[in-house]
Amino acid sequence: MVSSSSSQSPGSSSSSSSLPSNVTRLPASVTDLVSCVSHEINVIENELDLQTQNDIRSERKLRTTDEERLLEDAIDDGFMCVDLKVLERKLIAWHRLFSPAFDNDNDHKNIDDNNNNEPSDYNYTVTPYFAVKCNPDACVVEWLARTASRMNLPLGYDCASVAELELAKTQIQKYSLEGTADGEKKNRKNIPTTRIVYANPQRAEADLMHALELFATTPSSQSQSQSKELELWLTLDGVEEVYKIATARKLFLEKHHAGDDNNSSNSNALLQMPNVKIVLRIWVPDGHSQIPFGEKFGMRMDEIDTVVEECLNHGILAEDIIGISYHCGSGCSHVETYLEALEMGRKALTKIDDRLTRHYREHKQYKRHRCWLLDMGGGFPGRDGLDGDDGRFSANAKEKEKEITDTSVTATSQQTQTTVADIAMAVRPVLQSLTTSKDENDSSSLPLTLIAEPGRYFVEGAIALASRIYQKGQVNDPNDDSNKIRVYRIPHGVQGVFKDVLLCGESFIPQPLRINDLDDDPTITADDHQQDSSTLYLSRVLGPSGDDTAEDVVCDSCLLPELEVGDWLVFDRMGAYTLSIA
Ligand SMILES: Cc1ncc(COP(=O)(O)O)c(C=O)c1O
Repeated sequence: MVSSSSSQSPGSSSSSSSLPSNVTRLPASVTDLVSCVSHEINVIENELDLQTQNDIRSERKLRTTDEERLLEDAIDDGFMCVDLKVLERKLIAWHRLFSPAFDNDNDHKNIDDNNNNEPSDYNYTVTPYFAVKCNPDACVVEWLARTASRMNLPLGYDCASVAELELAKTQIQKYSLEGTADGEKKNRKNIPTTRIVYANPQRAEADLMHALELFATTPSSQSQSQSKELELWLTLDGVEEVYKIATARKLFLEKHHAGDDNNSSNSNALLQMPNVKIVLRIWVPDGHSQIPFGEKFGMRMDEIDTVVEECLNHGILAEDIIGISYHCGSGCSHVETYLEALEMGRKALTKIDDRLTRHYREHKQYKRHRCWLLDMGGGFPGRDGLDGDDGRFSANAKEKEKEITDTSVTATSQQTQTTVADIAMAVRPVLQSLTTSKDENDSSSLPLTLIAEPGRYFVEGAIALASRIYQKGQVNDPNDDSNKIRVYRIPHGVQGVFKDVLLCGESFIPQPLRINDLDDDPTITADDHQQDSSTLYLSRVLGPSGDDTAEDVVCDSCLLPELEVGDWLVFDRMGAYTLSIA
């Protein structure tokens, strides 16, 4: 399954009606990442040859259609491979880790065939809201929705822009993920029916206004009781956002209801303000993450009262303040941080509840306010820690078949990196207590609904990059006068898909793919190939930009066989924050 890195949309044709039209299936002979990439290079080259021959045969002047241009770009510069099975597996693994109640759900036997059907002590669900900004490729967003729908697993989207809201809303509606009340039907607790949160910390008023229009209802849609699905959840990081929301609502009313008093019959056709719910985002420690967000968002505990007050002063109803969210920073592998954040979340909820209960009292309403949403945000590592995490790209096909069903929840002790399984195990008792009603007869002790906004977790391992070497040189090895370092230049650099080199000092180690290895030349034997590859040289990989003072260093030092211009470098786990930036 391939997508050209020069475009957001995957190339090639479809071989199955159940797949989006731009997705191809790989033959079983393709066994790992490098053989997947070489297969795709052959497919692209054959396709281009075929098109050229057709042009010559029909004596047409060589034409350059969009598709040809995409294919040529892919051969010149590189392309990305998407393994949709990894996405599917990630959704299953998430629910296996964060929705333990599903273990005993007959519909989900395929999640774990070894399920012993013992009743689980835990019965909460953390619904994942995929952070679209992490990889806004339409194919990724759609595939997740399709899988969620097919497997009846709850899924939502965390959106950072109007374009993402549109994309997410389309998929939610296409796959009927919204408002199906599956929670009630299946007797599962705490599954929200609203599946989109607009969680950008700094939204322009115009964007908020667009969001309101996107989620607005008409009187006819309201009468079809669709109002639930059209709720818009907005996060709030401080008082400035309260003012912006108030302005956006004013703009909406001016635009859509300006003449209401004079022409009330006409107002029937007008857009109605959507049901807006507010989620207060609090600051939590993020020092253990690859990319901390603390400066970008999150209010401090002592700001909560003021923000709540400003909400009330600017037309937001107390009952529309539904809960809190936070973010531990992207790539957070520190289990204690998640526990600390949960504790801070619990305290923040109490603080909001207290302030709003006081507000009711001031208005002679003697009821208790209860927030009901806790959004654990994103930050989760790319590795889930269940068996076969590396997926199709780095495992052989037979192994892969096993992996999809064999996802036993054993936090892998041999793993050196913290995985999502480690985090899930640590937070289980806390999540259980947060979702357990203390007193069934007391509406003020209703259990919380849990969601999270994982981005990297879903896509990091699902996408790989193939980049073609276009220049080769060598420099002296400063540590060994007699040695030379091979220097390869590729068209992707630290200003683009490798920006994490600059943002968080990440290092990217490529796997080599030589074009000779792709050839069917009978004079080159398998032994020749092997011998060529077995001698490794100290090598450096550079991107296309940079000068003597600031090089575009993708990989400063790695061991590679002798490669030539036209050979390929393949980079695995390239799905998170490569096509986009947080
Ligand atoms: C508000 C919000 N939620 C979720 C995410 C996803 O984070 P991650 O990819 O680390 O899971 C981000 C990333 O920037 C974000 O800003």
